[in-house]
Amino acid sequence: MKLLLAANWKMYKTGEEAVLTLTDLGRRLSSLPEDRQVIVFVPFTALAQAGQARAAFPAVSLGAQNCYPAEEGAFTGEISPAMIRAAGGTWVLAGHSERRSLFQESDLLIGRKTAFALKAGLGVILCVGESLPERERGDLQPVLERQLEAGLAAVDPVFLPRFAVAYEPVWAIGTGRVAGPAEILESHAVIRAFLERKYAGRGGEIGILYGGSVKPDNAGTILGLDNVNGVLVGGASLQAESFSAIALA
Ligand code: 13P
Repeated sequence: MKLLLAANWKMYKTGEEAVLTLTDLGRRLSSLPEDRQVIVFVPFTALAQAGQARAAFPAVSLGAQNCYPAEEGAFTGEISPAMIRAAGGTWVLAGHSERRSLFQESDLLIGRKTAFALKAGLGVILCVGESLPERERGDLQPVLERQLEAGLAAVDPVFLPRFAVAYEPVWAIGTGRVAGPAEILESHAVIRAFLERKYAGRGGEIGILYGGSVKPDNAGTILGLDNVNGVLVGGASLQAESFSAIALA
């Protein structure tokens, strides 16, 4: 399994800014080891421009941060997996905690998106993670299992080679408060055990990424932990210098 180094640019960068950063990133990652894969999740409006400039950053794959689970239709404000692919994206995020909390996305909708996007040919990173109150109540395991169960409910296992999970504890996102090694190990073990149960014998093939205040100075330690197969980076991914340091950590 390749190590996945993923950048989530959230609502930052115009098309022009995205191409500049991606080109810089491509230069810095020209000698990316074969066993690593870099994906940048850009805003919708930057996707086509970035897709056209891909020759300048061949080491980097592109993704979108969200999609709607339908081929086309009267869904104002949404875009389909086919539109993402046509613009040069090969991956999509599903269930980011900001989508869950700020836009009231339900487990059910996230499950539909995950299954539909995989079927439509995209790779999917399904994001899961507990809030601070949930963790303090001792609900870590049930929350992660509920999100995974719903997220994977309609997924055909044939698509698992282009599926990954990102564990992003809500309390560690954008707060500078990174989860400690023991917390990451515990959560990733819960996720791995769930995947092993659900896909007898194949759960070990699914990448589990950690996300939440990953920086160049903690990436090496995090990537060295058991059951950590990559990272999903927000703030520190916006500059080519810091994200390339993470991708090469
Ligand atoms: P930060 O790296 O800014 O904490 O964001 C994490 C995240 O939400 C990635 O999807």
